[in-house]
Amino acid sequence: MKNHIEEDEIKFIVKEQIGGKLPNFLNEEEVKCVRNFHLSMDEYKATPLVALEELAKKLGVHKIYVKDESYRFGLNAFKGLGGTYSIARLLCKKLNIDIKDASFEYFNQPEIKEKIKDMVFVTATDGNHGRGVAWATTKLGCKSVVYMPKGSSLTRLQAIRDAGAEASITDFNYDDAVRIAKQKAEENGWYVVQDTAWEGYEDIPNWITQGYTTMADEALDQMKLDGIKRPTHVFLQAGVGSLAGGVLGYYANVFKDKCPITTIVEPEKADCIYKSALANDGNPHFVTGDLDTIMAGLACGEPNPITWKILQDFAKAYVSCPDYVSARGMRVLANPIGNDKKVIAGESGAVGLGFLSLLIERETLKPLKEKLGLDENSVVICFNTEGDTDPEHYEKIVYDGKNPSV
Ligand SMILES: Cc1ncc(COP(=O)(O)O)c(C=O)c1O
Repeated sequence: MKNHIEEDEIKFIVKEQIGGKLPNFLNEEEVKCVRNFHLSMDEYKATPLVALEELAKKLGVHKIYVKDESYRFGLNAFKGLGGTYSIARLLCKKLNIDIKDASFEYFNQPEIKEKIKDMVFVTATDGNHGRGVAWATTKLGCKSVVYMPKGSSLTRLQAIRDAGAEASITDFNYDDAVRIAKQKAEENGWYVVQDTAWEGYEDIPNWITQGYTTMADEALDQMKLDGIKRPTHVFLQAGVGSLAGGVLGYYANVFKDKCPITTIVEPEKADCIYKSALANDGNPHFVTGDLDTIMAGLACGEPNPITWKILQDFAKAYVSCPDYVSARGMRVLANPIGNDKKVIAGESGAVGLGFLSLLIERETLKPLKEKLGLDENSVVICFNTEGDTDPEHYEKIVYDGKNPSV
C-alpha cells in the first residue's frame, strides 16, 4: 500500500493496483435473480439516475450521475432492497423452494401466509435497514423487532414503528446493538436479519449484499440509455461495507479488468474500512467508542468481513473525512446549477458527492485526483442512498447552513 497522506483533515490511501478473486455470489446470474425478485414486487420501480450536466461541466468531468435511492419503495433509502431479498431467501429456505420460483405474490397466498405468520425477524439498525426490514415483514404478515444504537433519531425510530416493528433505542453503539439482536434471537427463536456478517453468520448478510445490487444493475441500464457503456469512477460510502462491497463486487464481475476506479468514503469517527486498508495486513480492523458522526448510517466500527475482502481487492482508494464533507454534498445536491435536477440527499447519502466536489476543487487533494485519473473523459457515479430521513437535521444543514461540528 502506498501514498498514505494525511492532510487538511481528509485522510486518504490510494493503491497502485487492484484485483483479486471475483466474488462469485455477486456474478451476473445471481444479480439477475435478485432483480427478478424485486421486479415481482408491486412497489418496484427503478429509482432515478440523475445526470448532473452542469455540475459535471463545472467540475471538469464528462458526466456525473447520482443514483437517487431516496425514491426506493417509498422508504426514502436504499436499504429495503437488502431487507426484502434476504427475507425472501429466508422464507424460501423455510418453505423449501427455490428463489427462482418465488415472488412477492407467492408469499402472499393465504396457505403460505399461514405457514410463515409466526416467524419473527430481529435486527439492529441506525434507521434505514430496520425500516426496510419492518416494511418487508409487515407486508408478508410476519413480525419484526428492531434495536437502535444510543443517540438514534426519534424521527427514524417512529418511521420504523410506523412500518410495523416493535422498535426501541438502546444505550449501546451500533456494533453492541447488533450483539443484543443476536442474543435476543437466541433466547426467543427469532431470525436475525443483520446487514453485516460474522463467523458462522454469512448467508443472510450475503443475501442482503446481493439485494443491494439491484440499484447497481439499474444504474448500468440507465447509463446505456444515455449512451454510456460503463462508469469510469465510482464513489461509494461505507458503514460496515456491505453496500459498497455489493456494488463494487458486481461491477468487478461485469467489467473484469476494466473495473471502474472506485473510492470508498467514510466518516472519520467510524472509518473502519480506511483503518483496515491502512493496517494493510489483510484483516478487517475495528473502530470503537461512540462513533459520533452526522452520517448515522455510516456509524459502524466493524467491517463486514466478507465485503471487506472485496473492498480490499477492488477499491482503488479509501477516504476518511469529517462531517462537513457530507454537509457540503447535501448542499451541492440541494442547490443545483442551471437545469440540473435537485436531489434531496441525507447525511449518509451525500458524502460521496461531497467528497468528489472537494477532490476536484481542492489543491491539497490534487495528488489523489491525479492518481485516480479524474479528467474531462471521466464518467462518475455516486449513490444517494438516503433522502431526508431526519428532516429536522436536514433543514438545519441545508437551509440554515449549520456547521455540523457545532
Ligand atoms: C443511507 C445509508 N447509506 C449507506 C449505508 C452504508 O451501508 P453499509 O453499512 O452496508 O456500508 C447505510 C447503512 O445503514 C445507510 O443507511
